[in-house]
Parts: sequence; structure tokens; C-alpha cells
Amino acid sequence: MSNTKEAIISVDNVSVFYDGKQSKVPAIEEVSLEIEQGEFVCLVGPSGCGKSTLLKIIAGYIQPSQGKVFMKEEEISQADWRRGVVFQSPTLYPWLTVRKNIEYGPKVRKVSKEECAKLSTYYLNEVGLTDFADHHPYELSGGMKQRVSLARALANQPEIILMDEPFSALDAITRVKMQDFLREMWQKNNQTILLITHDIDEALALGTKVAIMSKNPGKIEKIIDVDYSNKIMMDSNYEFENDTAYIHDKSEILKMISE
Ligand SMILES: Nc1ncnc2c1ncn2[C@@H]1O[C@H](COP(=O)(O)OP(=O)(O)O)[C@@H](O)[C@H]1O
Ligand SMILES: [Mg+2]
Repeated sequence: MSNTKEAIISVDNVSVFYDGKQSKVPAIEEVSLEIEQGEFVCLVGPSGCGKSTLLKIIAGYIQPSQGKVFMKEEEISQADWRRGVVFQSPTLYPWLTVRKNIEYGPKVRKVSKEECAKLSTYYLNEVGLTDFADHHPYELSGGMKQRVSLARALANQPEIILMDEPFSALDAITRVKMQDFLREMWQKNNQTILLITHDIDEALALGTKVAIMSKNPGKIEKIIDVDYSNKIMMDSNYEFENDTAYIHDKSEILKMISE
């Protein structure tokens, strides 16, 4: 077996300038990032450093001012179901049931009715919402809505899931539950995930890699490999509060972000 992994996403020296009042304002500058199959990359950085801009570039919602972004060998030029996106506030269709929301993407892609039903049944079960299949979004809690959003992204069977602060609006207990849930989904399905967060603990608890972004200009300062997610899965008694490596990584990231 070769140990050269395949990069699913390659961000190559990308800069984005937005139109300001007088001049072009740089949001991110010369950012490069590779995401390989099966990786869980967490991107942390202060508010306004360009995290969402980078995610939108990878999603194909906006185009870089300079540099290029590739999915495998292909340059990304528009949004595509192979890159599933989950936002902070779930963007569900209020007039559709939970099941219909999940089936929406495959249906648009002209997947057969039977196959759509199979997919929604499977992912409803995966996210623990089988009993809520015929409910509407307004009947669900925040955490449940976010699980529907995830199921909806997964139902397209994307090659990567891009998540922009998906748990920021949830209360602390629900957030930790959702993190455990996402970690299990990632491991079980060998998913590839890019998750943006401003919560360093969340990044360390989930990622296989943490990319640290700084502000003015928005740049990736450093990418570190971490293994806390595995530790949490392997050892039910694991407590990061007592792990000196964790404390070290956390304070290093905090220092970098607040500079
Ligand atoms: N559509 C836009 N037009 C002009 N400026 C923008 C736009 N979107 C974001 N910005 C600016 O670009 C910078 C990065 O924003 P963003 O990517 O949303 O950061 P983050 O997600 O890290 O908070 C910020 O200074 C923000 O004000
Ligand atoms: Mg943002």
C-alpha cells in the first residue's frame, strides 16, 4: 500500500479582496491548505479573520481574487453537491417535513423516488430522528435542526462536508453531545470534514489537524496534527484537563490567535 494520500481539496495560494468604500479590502491573503481523504480539519481563528471566506471559496460560492482551489484535479468554479455545506443556523425549508428536507438534494439531482426514500430513511436513523421524519423544522430543538442539516448534507453523499461554526448557537451541553455525535459519524463513515470554529476546545476535541488563522491579514499561521479525538474515543476516562500535551497545544493556539 502506498502511503501517499490523495488530497481532496487543495487551496493554492489564495487571496480574496472584497470591495471596500475606497479600496479593495483583503479578507484572506496567500492561504494554502490541503485536505486529504478521511481527515477532520478544524480551522480556528478570531472573528473576522476570514474563516467563512475560506469556506465559501472551497464551497465554490465565491471565487478567489488570486490563487486557485481544486477538488482533486478539477478547479472549483461553482457550488457542487460533492461538497456539502452546514451553516451555523440550519437553513432548512420550513414548509417541508424533516424527511423532505433530507431528500431535497438527491431529488434535485434526479435521484429516483425509491432511492431518495432509502437515503432519507438511512440518514434519519443515523442522526437519530426517525421518529421526527414527518415533523416540520419549527417543531424541533436547535440541536435537532442542526442534525437535520447534517443529514441533508450527508444524503447527497458528498466527498467532503464543510461546516461553518455549526454548533456555536447551541447551549453548552447540546454542543458537546453534537461534537460526540459528529465524531462518531466521521469515524464510522470515513468522512472528510472541514469544520470552522472559534472554540479551541472544539477544534482540539474533534480534529485530526488544527489550522490556526490570524487576522489582518487573514493567514494560516500554523497547522498542527492532533490526536485528542482518538484519545476521547479510545479511553472513556480520558480527561483533557489532565493531559499536559492538550494544555500545551491549547495555550499555544490561544497565544497565536490573540496576538
Ligand atoms: N461580502 C463581503 N463584503 C465585504 N467585506 C466582507 C464580506 N464578507 C466578509 N467581509 C470581510 O472580510 C473579513 C473576513 O470575514 P469572514 O470571512 O466572515 O471572517 P470570519 O468568518 O473569520 O469571522 C472581515 O473583515 C469581513 O468584514
Ligand atoms: Mg464566519
